[in-house]
Amino acid sequence: MQRFSRSALALGVAALALVAARQESLEARGGAAGPYGLRDMEIPVPPDNPLSPGRITLGEQLFFDKRLSKTKAMSCETCHVPEKGWTDGLAFSPKFDGSLNTRHTPTLYGVAYAPELYWDGRAKGLEAQIVAAWKGQMGADPDAIAKELDGIRGYRAAFEREMGGPPTGDRIVKALASFVRTIHAADTPFDRMEKEPRQAKSDAVQGFKVFSETARCTLCHLPPLYSDTLFHNVGIGFEKETPDLGRGKFLADAAARAGQPAPAEAETAKGAFKTPSLRGVAVTGPYFHDGRAATLEESVDLMVKGGIPNPHLDEKLKPATLTAAERRKLLAFLESLTPEGKPYTRPRLP
Ligand code: HEC
Ligand code: HEC
Repeated sequence: MQRFSRSALALGVAALALVAARQESLEARGGAAGPYGLRDMEIPVPPDNPLSPGRITLGEQLFFDKRLSKTKAMSCETCHVPEKGWTDGLAFSPKFDGSLNTRHTPTLYGVAYAPELYWDGRAKGLEAQIVAAWKGQMGADPDAIAKELDGIRGYRAAFEREMGGPPTGDRIVKALASFVRTIHAADTPFDRMEKEPRQAKSDAVQGFKVFSETARCTLCHLPPLYSDTLFHNVGIGFEKETPDLGRGKFLADAAARAGQPAPAEAETAKGAFKTPSLRGVAVTGPYFHDGRAATLEESVDLMVKGGIPNPHLDEKLKPATLTAAERRKLLAFLESLTPEGKPYTRPRLP
């Protein structure tokens, strides 16, 4: 069965027809099929932005196109590099004006499944998040850029064909969201080994036991996405003098803006951040919302010892003691959740 992934685009017209056929039956239910390893998880798609191969292709071009930025020197790819698991290897990335982000660039793997985007979940849905990123990270004036794209014949035709009209800020965001929804770390070695009886004694499969049973990481890193898409305080940054209060601050600010008292969760969610999906984790370093851990080993050791103690620490996170062999297997499991590195073919731009 064809899947919605980057590789689907490379397979040519026949495959795309298959995608379309599969899509048609799913559209009736408002979703799209998850790729291999995530089959049971239907990709939620908003009714006003149905996925189609044409929209995905157009969105991919826009993602890699520097003409979408104010400076014409950056694209979404500047911070979300496919070969780096759609991150950029930096703790904090510079925005279009040179100022630094205060949180680490997360991977785009599996973001289609997160109802709330950003580390603190302040954006509801990918479309809302992408318009914010486009303006905030790239300094875009959507109307002005839509007008520029309207002057490029290839884009104009593609927007008319796929989006039902000429480029507008809204249509650009929708096409980008369609593409981003197809970015998955699927068909990983672990996905293939998991159901294979002969692999039961492999380090990776044994490592999953350590992950789920011994260290109980699955309480938050829920398979098959290896994230519950919820927010937890594991203590990262809480040792700082003025910690980033993450989800708690967002909830308090949102209530204040609405003229309402802060909900109880604004207090308990102080220092809480979204559980990252661990698919692709071998290549998405540095780790955590402040990019503090340079290596996977370092980040895993920090989680295994129970995070960083603080008054808001999530009670699901308990320290575990692992033998050297268990630690090695746990790391082998996490490595095997990363797809084999294949060079990514950038799209040709109109
Ligand atoms: C200058 C670097 C930079 C650029 C350019 C950039 N991003 Fe990001 N992106 C970030 C950072 C940093 C975050 C996390 C911010 C936060 O959580 O507060 C982020 C978050 C995201 C997320 C949310 C991920 C999650 O797990 O919640 C998505 C999706 C995303 N970006 C897509 C895009 C798209 C699409 C573009 C192009 C329109 C783009 N980004 C351009 C740095 C960048
Ligand atoms: C209480 C929920 C919870 C539990 C239990 C938990 N994690 Fe996490 N994990 C998180 C959250 C939330 C973050 C992001 C924290 C931050 O950056 O502030 C995270 C981050 C990570 C990261 C860094 C990923 C990245 O892309 O930055 C790794 C690796 C990780 N966890 C592995 C584990 C392992 C291994 C275990 C079991 C020993 C575990 N976690 C248990 C919630 C949890």
